[in-house]
Amino acid sequence: MAALAVVVCCLVFGFCFLCFALLKWNEIRYRRKGLPPGTMGWPVFGETTEFLKHGPNFMKNQKARYGSLFKSHILGCPTVVSMDPELNRYILMNEGKGLIPGYPQSMLDILGRCNIAAVHGSAHKYIRGSLMSLISPAMIKKQLLPKIDKFMRSFLDKWDGKVIDIQQKTNEMALFIAFKQIVEVESGQIYETFKPEFDKLLIGTLSLPINIPGTNYHRGFQGRQRVIRILQRIIEDRRASSVTHSDMLDHLLRNEDSNYNLNDEEILDQIITILYSGYETVSTTSMMAIKYLHDHPRALKELRDEHLAIHQNKSPEEPIDWDDYKSMSFTRAVIFETSRLATVVNGVLRKTTKDIELNGFIIPKGWRIYVYTRETNYDPFHYSEPLTFNPWRWLDKSLESHNYCFIFGGGTRLCPGKELGIVQIATFLHYFVTSYRWEEVGGDEIQQFPRVEAPNGLHIKLSKN
Ligand code: HEM
Repeated sequence: MAALAVVVCCLVFGFCFLCFALLKWNEIRYRRKGLPPGTMGWPVFGETTEFLKHGPNFMKNQKARYGSLFKSHILGCPTVVSMDPELNRYILMNEGKGLIPGYPQSMLDILGRCNIAAVHGSAHKYIRGSLMSLISPAMIKKQLLPKIDKFMRSFLDKWDGKVIDIQQKTNEMALFIAFKQIVEVESGQIYETFKPEFDKLLIGTLSLPINIPGTNYHRGFQGRQRVIRILQRIIEDRRASSVTHSDMLDHLLRNEDSNYNLNDEEILDQIITILYSGYETVSTTSMMAIKYLHDHPRALKELRDEHLAIHQNKSPEEPIDWDDYKSMSFTRAVIFETSRLATVVNGVLRKTTKDIELNGFIIPKGWRIYVYTRETNYDPFHYSEPLTFNPWRWLDKSLESHNYCFIFGGGTRLCPGKELGIVQIATFLHYFVTSYRWEEVGGDEIQQFPRVEAPNGLHIKLSKN
């Protein structure tokens, strides 16, 4: 009996010792002088499980314990989380001081080495300049808005009386509309083949970089290869033909803007960037706008009145134009409030290229910095009653440009697709609210973290307005 007790004691002691040793492993491995406080969790996994499971609450708890700059180990990397708005702004404004984008390896691999997040300094300036020449306000006004208008009319047609999953529809809408702007004529015939491959690519960008059959990373690469093959075939056909098109691909191939003369690899990665960056952001914001408008009839009425006023001054076939878009001030406010309250983007990632000092702490070279901006969206100092959906607050235009509004990022990486994204969502809302009324079928849950999504879809029943 006594012998058994000794064995049990030894096992318990051994187990406790093992747990203690494992918990200390990362602490010792990443121990450096001058690091911010915090915990590093388990070997390999660090605190990823707690982060993904408890998300915002994990962040809040760590902040309460260690302050607004703390160390952790998440998503496979030693990471410093910054929840200090002033410091976040400093990090976003100072890429040149050793704070480059720090997106996961899987993302950089699958989006391509000329992808905007993979390039820095003058290369970034060049790729970004080329992108801006495709999606600048002047291009939106002249070329993109008419296409967006045409697409939305036909996309939103014939939904009367139907029950639809608005998450699925906004998802299709966001990819197809970007695809149409890039390859207008070919998009119709090849979209059905293209979408599943692009979706594989998308999932692969957020996976463990293990390239063996069966992994999301492997499938992501296959998706990328097929996407590239489809695009290359279109490029070859276009080069062999004398017909011109007024879309982004033609603009890239004809080097209309002599300042930016991209080679084929850069063109392909640029196209993938445009499709990738505007996909989930635009689709989720559109879905959440429908959700919030459904739940806030006064806001819906004001939005609908704004669009009916535009609609009533037009003949049925007349598209909305830049002046109409500019007059949609309440719609813009709804889009900003939706992005803020839903927090479609929780933060952005940076990586240090050398040891750097932040708020008196030393962040070692190669560490990730998670510029966690979610909290700022709910800061009562900037947004009174922050948990209330109140689009009216954005009618004060200065709110969009205040120092701590990070909805579209900031500094040299400020979202170049901001205006394009807003135009797409505003046009979608225009045709949606002027054509239909809707009721939620009910019971659909919405998850807020790590991404905003309705796991079983968001089903609504539509009737003609
Ligand atoms: C509601 C819609 C959108 C939101 C909320 C959004 C948000 C953001 C944020 C927060 C960043 C900063 C990333 C960082 O600093 O690392 C960003 C960057 C970027 N966005 Fe958007 N975005 C939206 C729509 C779009 C669209 C439609 C495009 C289409 C081209 C786009 C293209 C990009 C690109 C290329 C970057 C990287 C810029 C760079 O590294 O210089 N975005 N976006």
